[in-house]
Amino acid sequence: MLSAKSNRSRLVVVSNRLPGMKAVGGEERLRPIGGLATAVEAALSQRESGGVWIGWSGKITSGNDRSGIKEIAAKPIRLLGLDLTENDVAAYYNGFCNKALWPILHGFPGLATLSRSQLDVYRSVNRFFASEIMSQLNEGDLVWIHDYHLFYLGHELRKLGWKGKIGFFLHVPFPSMESLEILPDYRELLSLMSAFDLVGFQTKIYRDNYARACELSLGSQLKGNILVGGESKQIADVFPVGIDVDKFLPSDGDRASGKGRITLGTPFQNLDIVLGVDRLDYTKGLPERTIAFETLLKTHPKIKRAVTMIQVCSPSRTKVSEYVEQKKRMDSLVGRINGELSEHDWEPIRYLYRTYSQEELIDFYRYSKVGLVTPLRDGMNLVAKEFVAAQYPDDPGVLTLSKFAGAAEQMTEAILVNPYIPEDTADGIALALEMPKGERIERHQALLKKVQDYSVQRWTNEFVSALISG
Ligand code: F6P
Repeated sequence: MLSAKSNRSRLVVVSNRLPGMKAVGGEERLRPIGGLATAVEAALSQRESGGVWIGWSGKITSGNDRSGIKEIAAKPIRLLGLDLTENDVAAYYNGFCNKALWPILHGFPGLATLSRSQLDVYRSVNRFFASEIMSQLNEGDLVWIHDYHLFYLGHELRKLGWKGKIGFFLHVPFPSMESLEILPDYRELLSLMSAFDLVGFQTKIYRDNYARACELSLGSQLKGNILVGGESKQIADVFPVGIDVDKFLPSDGDRASGKGRITLGTPFQNLDIVLGVDRLDYTKGLPERTIAFETLLKTHPKIKRAVTMIQVCSPSRTKVSEYVEQKKRMDSLVGRINGELSEHDWEPIRYLYRTYSQEELIDFYRYSKVGLVTPLRDGMNLVAKEFVAAQYPDDPGVLTLSKFAGAAEQMTEAILVNPYIPEDTADGIALALEMPKGERIERHQALLKKVQDYSVQRWTNEFVSALISG
């Protein structure tokens, strides 16, 4: 548990993305989108000594100059934002982050576009973040940097003289050496990462990939959870990110009141719902999943008219060509399958290209018999955990989960499938749909216990404690 001392140091969180804000009943609330923002919001909210969250404001300046740090919100968490130029957004965010690092880290080198000039802008944005953050830091602060957009930030802060603790958490996978070495200057990247006192990963496999890369490139060695030799001593450990479980658990009154925000009307009556909730990203395996669902309908004629799939896809990185392609692919795939298999009174797939609030998603989770979470590769995947936490324990839905989601390392009582093989996923869905209630309850209890044990509160506490004591 977090010691009293550790909870007194101010936490300075830095990430590329900040949460949006929304007004609820005259009060400003955070609107986090994506796993990182959701987890960091929960982490900061529980700190007695408060904290500050610094990131890109999401704004683009009109000229060639970046604009310095500004307060975006004072409550419930202090948010400070930086504005980037159009060139930064093109070369750093849409470019090096999402066209080079994202595919390489997720093991899709064939989709990567590599460019030294984009790497230069990436470095320069990291340097800019460092100079702005330095003006905000006080002695004793704990700096906690998040994700692949800011690999060089620790090093840049050290260059400017910051001597305090710096932790780094990678929300996405860390790949094996064969994938990593495709990146330009990957050795330098590993060497500059030694500026972090602590590096955290979602799973043991990702931590071990990092340690092996440091061993091969820098000559370091992992002893326990410490990387020694090489250029410095660093803790490299596993901190599986979790959710704020209480927000998802059903209360006694929930089912009785029947008051959801989303009401599924007549078309869904008497149908078992298979649910997917994802950002529209090629790593999420959406076309593969859709084809698997089609396979299920074709190979299990009895199931066909008794089931429907709801696929929520939130728009993401819409300026990056691979995402535009993925959207086109989904549009045409769903159109074709619905055209070929629909009946006048039944449709196989309801495809919702939009973002829903957490409360609305909870309704979707509870209506569904199967939670289908089948990324081709994923750092963790919090939808898997949210789905489990939201179920009614006396009649829970079943989680069908990709072996290649970080969550699979913990959630072994889910039905685990290989998302690249449509028949595998189709069989996994069929198994979930046909599972007797007793087994559903048993699996759900085991999964819920793990989700509760590894909550987001535990994630923060363990990371911050390790940072302080390391
Ligand atoms: O997985 C990394 C991550 O930062 C997630 O936390 C989040 O879901 C997603 O990427 C958001 O991406 P972006 O900030 O590019 O919209």
